[in-house]
Amino acid sequence: MSRKIPKAEQRLQEVYIDDVAAEGKCLIRTEEGIIFVEGREGGPTVAPGDVVDIRIVNRKKQYREAVAERVHSYSPVRTEPFCEHFGTCGGCKWQHIKYDEQLRFKRQQVVDHLSRIGKVELPAIRPTLPSEETQYYRNKLEFTCAEGRWLTDLEVRSDAPIDKRAVGFHIPKRFDKVLPIRHCYLQPDPSNAIRLAVTQYAMGHDLAMYNLKTHTGYLRTLIIRTASTGQVMVIVQVAQDRPELLMPLLDYLRQMFPQITSLNYIINTKKNDSYQDQTVINVAGPAYIEERMEDLTFRVGPKSFYQTNSQQAYQLYAITRQWAALTGSERVYDLYTGTGTIGLFVARQARQVVGIEYVESAVEDARVNAAVNGITNAEFLAGDMQQLLTPTLFDRYGAPDVVITDPPRAGMDEAVTRTLLQAAPQRIVYVSCNSATQARDLAILDEGYSVKDVQPVDMFPHTQHVENIVVLEKRS
Ligand SMILES: C[S@@+](CC[C@H](N)C(=O)[O-])C[C@H]1O[C@@H](n2cnc3c(N)ncnc32)[C@H](O)[C@@H]1O
Repeated sequence: MSRKIPKAEQRLQEVYIDDVAAEGKCLIRTEEGIIFVEGREGGPTVAPGDVVDIRIVNRKKQYREAVAERVHSYSPVRTEPFCEHFGTCGGCKWQHIKYDEQLRFKRQQVVDHLSRIGKVELPAIRPTLPSEETQYYRNKLEFTCAEGRWLTDLEVRSDAPIDKRAVGFHIPKRFDKVLPIRHCYLQPDPSNAIRLAVTQYAMGHDLAMYNLKTHTGYLRTLIIRTASTGQVMVIVQVAQDRPELLMPLLDYLRQMFPQITSLNYIINTKKNDSYQDQTVINVAGPAYIEERMEDLTFRVGPKSFYQTNSQQAYQLYAITRQWAALTGSERVYDLYTGTGTIGLFVARQARQVVGIEYVESAVEDARVNAAVNGITNAEFLAGDMQQLLTPTLFDRYGAPDVVITDPPRAGMDEAVTRTLLQAAPQRIVYVSCNSATQARDLAILDEGYSVKDVQPVDMFPHTQHVENIVVLEKRS
């Protein structure tokens, strides 16, 4: 619950920022408790080591929240952000922090979670594995086409008529406002060129963009997927069935970008832009692009999940496979398998792989990918983990020798963790995108397993996110 803030307590001056915190915020420790501080639109950004004046905007029982008003001295961890949209876009919140410092903060986050929440005995935690590419590392971006462009202070004050259509990213916490992006450093070419071409085409042909408040307009989103094979997928999402508007736009894209190998569209008449439940119509090229990893080919469809930093996904999988220490005789369970990529990546070193995942289309993708790669010792099962992972399943497919688990941010259900304890595989490799929930699960697994090695991996440079791999061995 928020409490009213007495006037005298609303502002604090020249306070030292101690650390990073979740969601790109920073943390200040005071005698009165913790304050989470963030920068503000048009104002200063914050970094650990800065000395700042802050304004308290929210007061809860456990902590206070503040925005920075002025920076008195800048931290040595800072560097110059490279993107003109930094500070407004919200996409890469750590661009103003040096990359090696980002890696240090990410490792510290893992150390803090595993030691404070997990409270298990730990080996030395390795330094964060850097991402080879720190720019243009994403293989998928979804841009929003909107009526309500974000206006600069200058534009707000101006009387001149302004075209408020935009193709770009949502402003943080403003679902109806979109920042037009001139250049994005997240995805390789031709991502920027395609987005700019669609914007120009829409402006030149008077195509209305969707308005999320009034639910009017036509163009909704532009999804671009790129692959390490050079293949490119584009999906244009529109709000109405108007072929006379759509076909010329798609023809234009085909002419301008012969690099597009898979061109698709979606007619989404719902009130929101999510398209997992929508039909994707393929107009040119196959309805997928291909990623390659060692001798494997993965087909990635318009709705398929694929790790967004392909190069670093390879590093993540390689460590996972190394730590699984397979000799060819093991039955491996790949829990939360998504499109089966980890399971297929280790399959040639295992006797059998069983992958479990609740998104049915992902399981279908996994089966297709097994067939495409001639892998016959991997089975993929669709269903909720807690329901599927039972002694009955082990009776049917055999008990696991090694488990690889890669759950969503919420971690594993306690029942699933306890089932693993009972199944007692020799080794568990736990890949996580949230070391706090991973630590909670490790505390339960501690009954039967000890942590042998910990490797934080940076999949998302310039963000606070960190992936973490832990290998556990059965206690003898
Ligand atoms: C972090 S992703 C794993 C990605 C995959 N290992 C890879 O590398 O591509 C987590 C996966 O767990 C699935 N999932 C989430 N909750 C689940 C549940 N209760 N039962 C089964 N699968 C679940 C999600 O659909 C998602 O594909």
